[in-house]
Amino acid sequence: MIEFRSVTKRFPDGTLAVDDFSLVLPSHKTTVFVGTSGSGKTTLLRMINRMVDPTSGCIEIDGADISTLDPVKLRRGIGYVMQNSGLLPHRKVVDNVATVPMLRGMPKKKARDEALALLDTVGLDRSLAGRYPSQLSGGQQQRVGVARGLAVNPNILLMDEPFGAVDPIVRAELQQELLRLQRELGKTVVFVTHDIDEAFLLGDQVVILRTGGKIAQIGSPAEILANPVDEFVSTFVGADRGKRSLHVENHGDGDVVVDETGRLAGVLVGAPPSLAAAATAPFEPESKAGPQGSGASAQGGDPR
Ligand SMILES: Nc1ncnc2c1ncn2[C@@H]1O[C@H](COP(=O)(O)OP(=O)(O)O)[C@@H](O)[C@H]1O
Ligand SMILES: [Mg+2]
Repeated sequence: MIEFRSVTKRFPDGTLAVDDFSLVLPSHKTTVFVGTSGSGKTTLLRMINRMVDPTSGCIEIDGADISTLDPVKLRRGIGYVMQNSGLLPHRKVVDNVATVPMLRGMPKKKARDEALALLDTVGLDRSLAGRYPSQLSGGQQQRVGVARGLAVNPNILLMDEPFGAVDPIVRAELQQELLRLQRELGKTVVFVTHDIDEAFLLGDQVVILRTGGKIAQIGSPAEILANPVDEFVSTFVGADRGKRSLHVENHGDGDVVVDETGRLAGVLVGAPPSLAAAATAPFEPESKAGPQGSGASAQGGDPR
């Protein structure tokens, strides 16, 4: 569990990036910070691995105040994935993934073997291991970035707009991959995005931020969609929707987000895998398909 207690960050030039922020991020869940540019998302994320230190307040990980921990040791348990994958251009894919474990003393052979296994984990063919980052597509580069973040076998994975630079189709694939990975690995993920749809798709807990890291609303996607606390949140939740108008529907065995044409647009926390699978396929409106034909009536399954 990660806990922010009254955390404030004022940069030396006077900018108040985060103002009195308090939040609990549960273990093995995905918490998404979502907000417009400059709302303090990156600063919040970087304070977790001490790339940035708070001006006041404290952050605890599993009860330990991280300001008392050695930053290098702290980062051993924390993976970091950034927007432009952050790959070293002059190193092959396998070495990009193996670099940090080797820096930490893992023998080269073992580090490379583990790197190859991580390529499997993130859905990349091992034949790409010998390429340089520039010889990969944007989506492949991001997968290598995720593999690199996982290479230290962290409990915590920090992801700063990791899918922001790829096209919408690849982005949707990467999002589904992350959901799959998270079902398998159960890391404590802290994910930053400015895209509310991405936040609702990936987050168990979604934190909508205003400027200054001020929390506008915290909740599950279903809670926020069903009950936006104020005008700011409704506008933000509605802003990226274009013609769609998303709403929550209960399908008996889990909540789903449905757009105005009745298509399944996302699956909320607690929905069974059958619904998750349906989210990637065209979805018949309930009125036409009926409860049996919608795929939404399947029983059981693990919540994600
Ligand atoms: N090193 C820095 N020095 C001064 N101001 C900064 C620094 N880093 C970020 N900021 C400012 O802090 C605010 C929050 O930035 P950031 O956390 O990067 O926001 P976001 O990731 O939500 O776009 C912004 O006003 C930004 O300009
Ligand atoms: Mg940022």
